[in-house]
Amino acid sequence: MPGIVIVGAQWGDEGKGKFVDVLTERADLVVRFQGGSNAGHTIVIDGVKTALSLLPSGILRPGVKCILGAGVVLNPAVLIAEIERLRAAGGDVSPQRLIIDRDAHLVLDYHIAVDKARELQRGANRIGTTGKGIGPAYEDRSQRSGIRCADLLHLQGVEERVRAHVDEKNKILRHVLDSETQIEFEPLWEALKNSARILAPYIGNGSAIVWQALQNGKNVIFEGAQGVLLDQMHGTYPFVTSSNTIAGGAAIGVGIGPRAIDAVIGLAKAYSTRVGEGPFPTELTGEIGDELRTKGHEYGTVTGRARRCGWFDAMALRRAVRISGIDSLIITKLDVLSGQSTLKICTGYRVGGQIVQDLPALAHEFNQVVPEYIELPGWQEDITRIRSWDSLPETTQGYVRQIESLVGCPVHLVSVGPDREATIQVGPPELLRGFLGR
Ligand code: GDP
Ligand code: IMO
Ligand code: MG
Repeated sequence: MPGIVIVGAQWGDEGKGKFVDVLTERADLVVRFQGGSNAGHTIVIDGVKTALSLLPSGILRPGVKCILGAGVVLNPAVLIAEIERLRAAGGDVSPQRLIIDRDAHLVLDYHIAVDKARELQRGANRIGTTGKGIGPAYEDRSQRSGIRCADLLHLQGVEERVRAHVDEKNKILRHVLDSETQIEFEPLWEALKNSARILAPYIGNGSAIVWQALQNGKNVIFEGAQGVLLDQMHGTYPFVTSSNTIAGGAAIGVGIGPRAIDAVIGLAKAYSTRVGEGPFPTELTGEIGDELRTKGHEYGTVTGRARRCGWFDAMALRRAVRISGIDSLIITKLDVLSGQSTLKICTGYRVGGQIVQDLPALAHEFNQVVPEYIELPGWQEDITRIRSWDSLPETTQGYVRQIESLVGCPVHLVSVGPDREATIQVGPPELLRGFLGR
């Protein structure tokens, strides 16, 4: 009963969409377990690009079931638009293929308004959120007042709760956050009733379906959003998202036991990126950073913001591997590094002259971090058309092997382009069967 978790091992945008799609070739079920429309997952098939923010990245494989787990926060309007977009492109997104867990919480307009107003009020201390209402929606869940998908099936009892939310958020917006924005109940309620009508057939018991699939020996992929270093508790707090992005989040977010997870695959870019504010010790603010941004198209899928770029950080990766129990790494975007004469990898951090064992706990402590680097020779070749490990330049192989040894985790796949096909197995193909039994 292989259940595998795929997580981003950095600060998001590592290529999760691409690899969930690639590995779904061997899967029966793909399950999102946290996050919401803050995610932007890109899949490229034969040159055709699809960007998904809520739908699981298995949706482009006909016959595969997809589930939005209870841990997801779901903006109904965004989901409906995404379903319609995929349908218009010829995709099958019927309730037979997509199930939304009844326990997933909704993101409504007032969450978005509060998210944006709070960021404005934070000023220079802003987190740089995506403005999709994610934090405020999880706040409502934690304080036990959230509206869930199950509520969409019994709307008559929900009207007063939604009205109370609108009133409360309007007060917070005006009196606490000094915002001019106010949410009107009537249009929000009308839109919600319409969404409920469209989404009702999709709402079901996600955790029971996953459990049954695992019992029947099916292959299940749990698709993470964001990255391990953005985990609400274990990331670079407070510059994090509001959900548990670590692999353990899959058990919580789906409602399965921890032993249902057989393996954890971590994705990392061959360099580092981060969107929004927060610590980034290996950031390159000069010419090389700009080059990586341009070559790697490092602009946010969701917000279009320029992503900050930097060298690969093996220190941060070691933490990601530890806190997520990553068994195997996939290194993406190796092609973007072509043309650099020298490449650097951060091997560890020095604080006050001393080598430290882990990332600092407080954001301001990162100001004192001095990254230690090793330098490796780069490669000049365009590697985007290479499809076998042995055909990669020796310097590229050396770079990947160096990552493997510094992070202390095997690399089983590398990626040299956005397309499904631009994927190279490191070592014999049998290795992958260790994760998915066929
Ligand atoms: P996700 O959030 O982890 O799914 O990643 P995103 O889709 O937000 O960002 C990754 C971007 O890199 C997307 O535009 C992908 O199409 C692209 N991509 C994925 N793998 C590779 C690769 O190996 N090389 C290049 N050049 N682009 C890649
Ligand atoms: P995918 O799944 C990269 C970042 C935001 C911000 C912080 C908090 O595509 O990898 P939020 O809106 O979640 O409250 O913002 O988290 N962030 C992401 N960065 N990729 C993502 O998703 C992200 N989702 C959120 O930029 O710094
Ligand atoms: Mg993304």
